[in-house]
Amino acid sequence: MITLIRDIAQLIQVRPEAPPYVTGEEMNRLPVIENAYMLIRDGLISEAGPMENLPAVQPDRTIDASGRLVWPAWTDSHTHAVFAEPRYGEFIDKIRGLSYEEIAARGGGIGQSAVRLRSMSEEQLYHQGRLYVERMMQYGTGAVEIKSGYGLSVEGELKMLRVIRRLGRDLPIPVKATFLGAHAVPAGMDKNDYVRLLIDELLPEIGRERLADYVDVFCERGYFDPDDTARLLDAARRYGLKPKVHVNQFSSTGCLQAALAAGALSVDHLEVMTSRDLDDLARAHGTMATVLPGCSFFLGIPYAPAKEIIARNIPLVIATDFNPGSSPSWNMNMMVALACIKQKLTPEQAINGATLNAAAALELSGEMGSITPGKKARLNLSIPLSHYGEIPYYFGTNPVAELILE
Ligand code: NIG
Ligand code: FE
Repeated sequence: MITLIRDIAQLIQVRPEAPPYVTGEEMNRLPVIENAYMLIRDGLISEAGPMENLPAVQPDRTIDASGRLVWPAWTDSHTHAVFAEPRYGEFIDKIRGLSYEEIAARGGGIGQSAVRLRSMSEEQLYHQGRLYVERMMQYGTGAVEIKSGYGLSVEGELKMLRVIRRLGRDLPIPVKATFLGAHAVPAGMDKNDYVRLLIDELLPEIGRERLADYVDVFCERGYFDPDDTARLLDAARRYGLKPKVHVNQFSSTGCLQAALAAGALSVDHLEVMTSRDLDDLARAHGTMATVLPGCSFFLGIPYAPAKEIIARNIPLVIATDFNPGSSPSWNMNMMVALACIKQKLTPEQAINGATLNAAAALELSGEMGSITPGKKARLNLSIPLSHYGEIPYYFGTNPVAELILE
């Protein structure tokens, strides 16, 4: 089966030999071919080049991309896309001036989502989650990570993880599952008892059923501290779960260091970073720094120091953090725009952070994230546009006409 995409105005992120991710100066490079063709054989990218070099082939399918862009589908490496219901009430409270912490202290927040999830069947939750992932795909997301963390009980967490696994089986894009039992302490329970439950009861079951790829902890003042985090990450390692950790969202209290000590694949959020935190992160070779500008935008908290992260050669990733409390947007294009507008990244840096580097944050850069022979053809075809800078420029819109999954 051969597919030809022809007359592409700009073919973006063309790297014949792609590194797993890019850092520093290389983040400023976004290689493109103008007026390009691309060939896909049996679902894999086979070659790309300028139209004048188009070889004589007999394609089974031809896509005319004249006046349009083609780029690697986004990887959204940090989401909470399986949840019971939106939390509009909190949206209004926020408009009236309450902070995320104040809303949680009044019984809203993650605890509220957990209460609502309890009464939902696995089937209902699956259909709700599926709708959200389908919307992400309409906005050009070609791989996604989804966390548990609204169960906060053995049955609730297992229900969420089974739903996430089922989404991965049924949908045509990779879905990675992250166990975030340590998202909040359930109402009325002692924190240490809960951590023990996660370690002694939940992790063995998750290991047995292979329900997760990664482990996460909401390491934050008022939630789980660096010691809890170290214990949980250490226990999860015995089940093969690598850490991807929520750190430094509202405070800097040693969470980043706990995640780095456990060899985290990524540390996510990073809105509150001291210069020591940045030094420590720069020394930890290979841990990726995931920034979530939608959360800063929605909550009105500081933005992670994305430029500084790049300047220190730390691999930067951009994701939505799609969730009902702090970032109700599934639009990766909007996150790329916010990274440019609010974090002052160039479009080249932001697009690298949301494609190649984002794929690496889910250990998928061997199969997607760049236009490289041998990678899977998971691609975005744009609406009529002529330059990749227009993706963040038309902020808040959807530049994706079609997610191509061959
Ligand atoms: O990444 N900070 C912790 N977890 C989510 C919010 C979850 C929620 O409010 O439902 C986040 O911001
Ligand atoms: Fe999150």
